[in-house]
Amino acid sequence: MKTILITGGAGYIGSHTAVELVAAGYQVVVVDNLSNADTTCLKGAEKITGRSLPFYEIDCCCKEDLQTVFKKHPIDGVIHFAAFKAVGESVEKPLMYYKNNLTSFLTVLEVLLENGGGNIVFSSSATVYGQPDILPATEDTPRGVATNPYGNTKQICEDILTDAVKAHPTLQGIILRYFNPIGAHPSALMGELPRGVPNNLVPFITQTAAGVRDVLQIFGSDYNTPDGTALRDYIDVNDLARAHVSALQKMYTKNDPGSCEIYNVGTGQPLSVLELVQKFCAVNNIKVKYKMAGRRQGDVEAVWANTSLANKHLQWKAEVPVEETLARAWAWEKKIRDL
Ligand code: UFG
Repeated sequence: MKTILITGGAGYIGSHTAVELVAAGYQVVVVDNLSNADTTCLKGAEKITGRSLPFYEIDCCCKEDLQTVFKKHPIDGVIHFAAFKAVGESVEKPLMYYKNNLTSFLTVLEVLLENGGGNIVFSSSATVYGQPDILPATEDTPRGVATNPYGNTKQICEDILTDAVKAHPTLQGIILRYFNPIGAHPSALMGELPRGVPNNLVPFITQTAAGVRDVLQIFGSDYNTPDGTALRDYIDVNDLARAHVSALQKMYTKNDPGSCEIYNVGTGQPLSVLELVQKFCAVNNIKVKYKMAGRRQGDVEAVWANTSLANKHLQWKAEVPVEETLARAWAWEKKIRDL
């Protein structure tokens, strides 16, 4: 049985991935410094899997701490989620973003190599594409110029991994470029837990529906899109979690050290902000007060994925209908608010 280290495993995507890995027969070990998470989702993951999941509250930037985890567990592979991820904050605190996101990834790679190497999945983002000229974006779509330090750390980490696998034949890598992850686990035991005012659309919608926020602002109604609001590719977090299992399985089956493949993880279906809000209201039979507002700085007009490569080579595809995802997002919000 393979043992997979999940860095940032207490977080939103990490905890869902832990559950899917256990279901697929992997052992998981979680590390997280809890800088942007508490243990709610981890406890949810333990309840769902019926397992106690080894957890270390450590910072991946600390090499000694990470070494102790590798000494305790026979780590065969790593999924690296641990990173800061708020675009606006990265503009205000660029050094903090570069230091944390690059140091943690470099340290994870160093320690993995010092322990004989293995397979590694890096969690990247569609943000690396910027605004593509041609849509949907394929993995060959040129990366855009990063418009913020957060996006730049994703690009740099992609380059670090690409170079590292070339130089170190004991490493094999897959870069997953996530589009817009949304939703929660069907059990409502795990979901997104943003701190403070949510930056992302769906938590803002669910908090507005719950009465925590007065009104949702729709950022931009004059885009060159069918209804004037921005287009995105919203991927269910459980589908996204399964993509990590498929990526690891691909690497273990192919066993091609020195390779680093890149896959888009999305649905391939664009939805506008307005459509998403309307679907949320319809499926949950609830009103969400919204108003049109100006464009948000740094936003692109439209981006969605061509997922053919992941469909073919990872034998993975998005399965959960967006309506179901939005119902789960609401069930989770109600659960954490005791509604
Ligand atoms: N939006 C609103 N109102 C809100 C929040 C968001 O209208 O209150 C809109 C945004 O303007 C955007 C869409 O909803 O048009 C989606 O916004 P999100 O913030 O949920 O997601 P992004 O597309 O901005 O985020 C993606 C990735 C991030 C990445 C970012 C970089 O999910 O990881 O792109 O631009 F950092």
